[in-house]
Amino acid sequence: MKLFLFLSFNALMLLEAFGNSHESDKQALLKFKSQVSEEKKVLLSSWNNSFPLCRWTGVTCGCKQHERVTGMDLGGFQLGGVISPFIGNLSFLISLDLNSNSFGGTIPQELGNLFRLQHLNMSFNFLEGGILASLFNCSKLSYLDLYSNHLGQGLPSELGSLSKLVTLLLGNNNLNGKLPVSLGNLSSLRVLSFPENNLEGEIPDAIARLTQMVVFVSATNHFSGVFPPAIYNLSSLLYLNMYGSGFSGNLRPDFGNLLPNLQGLSMGNNSLTGAIPSTLANISTLQVLGMEFNSLTGKYAMGGETSVHGDAYSFGILIFEMVSGKRPTDEMFGGELTLRSSIRSALPEQVLDVADELILHNSLRIGFPAAECLTKVLEVGLRCSEDFPGNRLEMS
Ligand SMILES: *[C@@H]1O[C@H](CO)[C@@H](O)[C@H](O)[C@H]1NC(C)=O
Ligand SMILES: *[C@@H]1O[C@H](CO)[C@@H](O)[C@H](O)[C@H]1NC(C)=O
Ligand SMILES: *[C@@H]1O[C@H](CO)[C@@H](O)[C@H](O)[C@H]1NC(C)=O
Ligand SMILES: *[C@@H]1O[C@H](CO)[C@@H](O)[C@H](O)[C@H]1NC(C)=O
Ligand SMILES: *[C@@H]1O[C@H](CO)[C@@H](O)[C@H](O)[C@H]1NC(C)=O
Ligand SMILES: *[C@@H]1O[C@H](CO)[C@@H](O)[C@H](O)[C@H]1NC(C)=O
Ligand SMILES: *[C@@H]1O[C@H](CO)[C@@H](O)[C@H](O)[C@H]1NC(C)=O
Ligand SMILES: *[C@@H]1O[C@H](CO)[C@@H](O)[C@H](O)[C@H]1NC(C)=O
Repeated sequence: MKLFLFLSFNALMLLEAFGNSHESDKQALLKFKSQVSEEKKVLLSSWNNSFPLCRWTGVTCGCKQHERVTGMDLGGFQLGGVISPFIGNLSFLISLDLNSNSFGGTIPQELGNLFRLQHLNMSFNFLEGGILASLFNCSKLSYLDLYSNHLGQGLPSELGSLSKLVTLLLGNNNLNGKLPVSLGNLSSLRVLSFPENNLEGEIPDAIARLTQMVVFVSATNHFSGVFPPAIYNLSSLLYLNMYGSGFSGNLRPDFGNLLPNLQGLSMGNNSLTGAIPSTLANISTLQVLGMEFNSLTGKYAMGGETSVHGDAYSFGILIFEMVSGKRPTDEMFGGELTLRSSIRSALPEQVLDVADELILHNSLRIGFPAAECLTKVLEVGLRCSEDFPGNRLEMS
């Protein structure tokens, strides 16, 4: 009898705990709704007491026995208003997607209570007030996307405690200060992107430890110093975009051998000097290359000149090498037949005949109009490599 009473008492306690938690998820979401601006509230009309919580628009629950809210996806709803701190009560939340809304105010610090959170997308909103330290309590986060807000301020070193991060997108946020050295602790990181900010200083050497990295974007910032040496350690990189990042100095001659998997490389509008590394031509996967607005000179310069014209000439030849997969010194070329002349006579009808098979294969796979694009690219190459320097396309 005693045992029975004890058991029923426990069952009641459990039910009550369950009921309350389910109820607190509902209360949290209704509080969230109450902070959404009036004109868009109609989009959340299913969020009402007479409709089951787990069927509310954008709401996902866990398994049947345990109907707690695990996902909230309101991406692209254009909701305005502010994000209620009650969101921090959704203690089973794993995924929160509020991208492409018009939320203003700050990211509520109560978000730090969501220790199960793995996926957080708040891109394309008007959030401000910096990246709060409480966010670094969400130690299971693997995707963090804050792209295009007005967060401002610097990046705290606690960022390095989010050890599960795979994707970190912080672009277009008026961030300033330096990148924290602790970024080097994010050993699972594959995508790191922070373009269009006012970040300064140097890229920390600790980045060299992030050997899983496939995408690195620093474009349009105010960094200083030489091209970051740590980048050369990231041999798994597929996309490197350092356009307008403020770097100077020379590129290593073995650039192409250290980053052999690149598909996209953009380094335009820095203050890079010295030779364009000829090993770039070794990167057989490269499809997009931008090096404009630097002071690079070329090894292929005719007559040893290292003028702007020589620079353009090398660039032209480099384009031919990349597209054709051949080198000007290959045995098939000699006398009248040069790599350049073979390409000139192929344009435009036979462009696909001179292109490397790998390029064709890749362009078909990603569905871009290969013939048309390659013709345009090769025409730039031809203009850069005119025999008379004065006819060459200027590189400034
Ligand atoms: C509650 O939501 C359901 C589903 O969208 C809707 O049919 C119903 O009219 C709503 N009830 C109220 C009172 O808004
Ligand atoms: C929910 O969140 C609010 C605001 O952060 C807090 O005041 C409240 O105590 C929390 N708990 C419950 C059960 O509502
Ligand atoms: C972070 O988590 C700790 C417990 O792990 C808690 O005491 C603290 O209040 C949390 N901080 C914030 C800002 O959520
Ligand atoms: C966040 O949402 C945007 C817009 O839909 C999407 O492009 C982006 O991939 C999402 N971020 C992550 C990390 O899933
Ligand atoms: C990063 O890792 C180092 C050890 O490798 C440790 O001393 C440091 O506290 C870590 N920093 C953060 C922010 O986790
Ligand atoms: C980066 O590569 C250099 C060799 O180029 C090596 O000496 C250095 O230890 C590497 N750094 C890390 C952190 O792996
Ligand atoms: C190049 O970068 C400078 C700042 O370093 C910027 O003012 C300028 O607009 C950029 N030019 C282009 C064409 O992007
Ligand atoms: C890379 O390029 C250099 C010179 O441009 C060449 O000597 C070397 O053999 C190439 N390496 C590979 C692996 O293709």
